[in-house]
Amino acid sequence: MNFHVLTLFPEMIRNGMNTSITGRAIAAGYLSIEAVNIRDFAYNKHQKVDDYPYGGGAGMLMQAEPVYLAYESVVQRIGKRPRVVYLTPQGRVFNQEMAREMAKEENLVFLCGHYEGIDERVLEEIVTDYVSIGDYVLTGGELPSMVMMDSISRMVPGVLSNKESGETESFAGNLLEYPQYSRPEIWHGKAVPQVLMSGHHANIEKWRREQSVIRTAKSRPDLLKKADLTNKEWNYVRQ
Ligand code: ADE
Repeated sequence: MNFHVLTLFPEMIRNGMNTSITGRAIAAGYLSIEAVNIRDFAYNKHQKVDDYPYGGGAGMLMQAEPVYLAYESVVQRIGKRPRVVYLTPQGRVFNQEMAREMAKEENLVFLCGHYEGIDERVLEEIVTDYVSIGDYVLTGGELPSMVMMDSISRMVPGVLSNKESGETESFAGNLLEYPQYSRPEIWHGKAVPQVLMSGHHANIEKWRREQSVIRTAKSRPDLLKKADLTNKEWNYVRQ
């Protein structure tokens, strides 16, 4: 997977992605992340990339041409027109399903806006996906792009080790993950649930499934509609 990030703050992307699991995956060649500085494509001597919006209003807009040239530099380098994700609170809300689907691409471009946004005309020409990471407003698209790259990376074969692999994690089957415990057996007077010490795999699976259903019902009842619950499970969720 090759990520290309069009940004005014390339250092933020490099520093953010070169650590931990994504850093290891970059070093091992499963991922590449290229941060393209939009300012390098400014066409005036002050390297200015923003201007006032026509019609008035607060703030400045990123101009179309530097964004377009930054995008074209990626197209030139890879020799094709990849999917371009524009990070915006006006987009579709990101989820695990989208992460899984985008992980199949060979190249993904992320366009990070700043100030009050980007001239609509360049968005019309290059953007294929408008994506939000949630119903709140951030100062720019860099953090959202890193959130997306992090979760997409986890779905790329080779990035997670077997130990880290996400087979039974939250959102698998639209249920949240069950609680987990490690040593010691008693901590601050709290014991590990007895069933987990029993070695009885069927009972452990049953307990974990119940816990997942209970948690999902408590924090994310909206997910339950998409989860495949048995009649018995619906009954104890309704209580
Ligand atoms: N840019 C600013 N806020 C954002 C959000 N919530 N999601 C994606 N991009 C953004």
